Amino acid sequence: MDFNLTEEQLMIRQAAKDYAERELIKDVLERDAKGEFPWQHAKNLAELGFFGMMIDPKYGGGGMDTLSYILAIEEFSKIDAAMAVVISVHNSLVSYGVEKYGTEEQKEKYLPVLASGSRIGAFLLSEPEAGSDASYQKTTAEDKGDHYLLNGTKNWISNAGSGSVYIVMAHTHPELGHKGINAFIVEKEWAGISLAPHEDKMGLRSSDTHSVMFTDVKVPRENRIGADGFGFKYAMKMLEGGRMGIAAQATGIAAGAFERSLQYAQERKAFGKPIIEHQAIAFKLADMAVKLEAARNFVYKAAWLKDTGQPYGQASSMAKLYCADAAMEITTEAVQIHGGYGYVKEYHVERLMREAKVTQIYEGTSEIQRIVIARGLVR
Ligand code: CAA
Repeated sequence: MDFNLTEEQLMIRQAAKDYAERELIKDVLERDAKGEFPWQHAKNLAELGFFGMMIDPKYGGGGMDTLSYILAIEEFSKIDAAMAVVISVHNSLVSYGVEKYGTEEQKEKYLPVLASGSRIGAFLLSEPEAGSDASYQKTTAEDKGDHYLLNGTKNWISNAGSGSVYIVMAHTHPELGHKGINAFIVEKEWAGISLAPHEDKMGLRSSDTHSVMFTDVKVPRENRIGADGFGFKYAMKMLEGGRMGIAAQATGIAAGAFERSLQYAQERKAFGKPIIEHQAIAFKLADMAVKLEAARNFVYKAAWLKDTGQPYGQASSMAKLYCADAAMEITTEAVQIHGGYGYVKEYHVERLMREAKVTQIYEGTSEIQRIVIARGLVR
């Protein structure tokens, strides 16, 4: 196997790294404290092309491969996982979903604005009573001929406030179970859509997460994605790529915590020498390095499978499961290595530890990934 990155992949990784280290770092602590959405960074990163990374150039995108996208998410997440999740949901769930399953008209209408970042995408599957059990949707889309009437509530929606191109899953035929679910492209400005205040989260505090309420929202028939009754399957396919993005995010969070710990352990002295020369700390760093390397291999392989046209759902769930756990373990050790300094904001590792936690929860909990992996073993 060739583990070398191409020149283009190296260049994209460097561009993401440069932006993160030069710009995101400046206000990441302040945004975390205030829970402010990074509007200016989103605008800058859109201009740099990070919102249209994998979209076909004929719709205004960069036409990049999945691995390039994964490398960028990792770099952003080292410094600012909240900015990374905005880009991740936008690219790998929403833009991918429209491009892969949308009609030509839908692609022509929505992909250019998604690619330019002038509109941000959000993915609306979860509901108050349908998180892990995603087919238990209560939101309905009643067929009215030339339009559907959308009613219901979605929960935990990343980019719900900043975003305005929604992919919404809803039941058109509740009696058919998951086969009665459809996916729709919905614009936030349409009448009947309201948002609850943004969630006051433990981590990723500057990404915006809301509940979204739909009351008699008229969705034009032409905004249904793909064949009737395939919405649940499309959502599952979109999540295969989305989970890879979260695996990359977890890897980046872990890498950020590891790099900070490695540096700190060489600078901080105790008992007359740098703490890295104490085996208790050196062994921790060795274990962290091994887990980080394994995490990278998991997620890069999943991206390679997708880029080479092979099935990647199983690999994506494995990557998400492993990388999220690795991120939690590595960030926890990072705080330990930093001692008291690790427990305050200035050294960033406490924030990284808070950010790691959600990677075990969203886009399918670790338990859901185990279900997907286990079912894949016997299929
Ligand atoms: N690709 C294609 N089809 C798939 C599929 C996939 N990856 N996974 C399942 N399906 C199909 C099955 O083949 C089946 O179709 P048939 O009946 O025709 O055979 C159908 O979908 C139903 O499948 P299951 O019986 O396996 O469905 P289930 O109800 O048992 O649920 C599950 C499976 C994996 C648990 C699924 O419900 C799931 O992934 N839940 C978690 C949802 C999730 O990740 N939510 C996060 C939302 S995104 C988010 O976090 C928001 C954000 O903003 C970041």
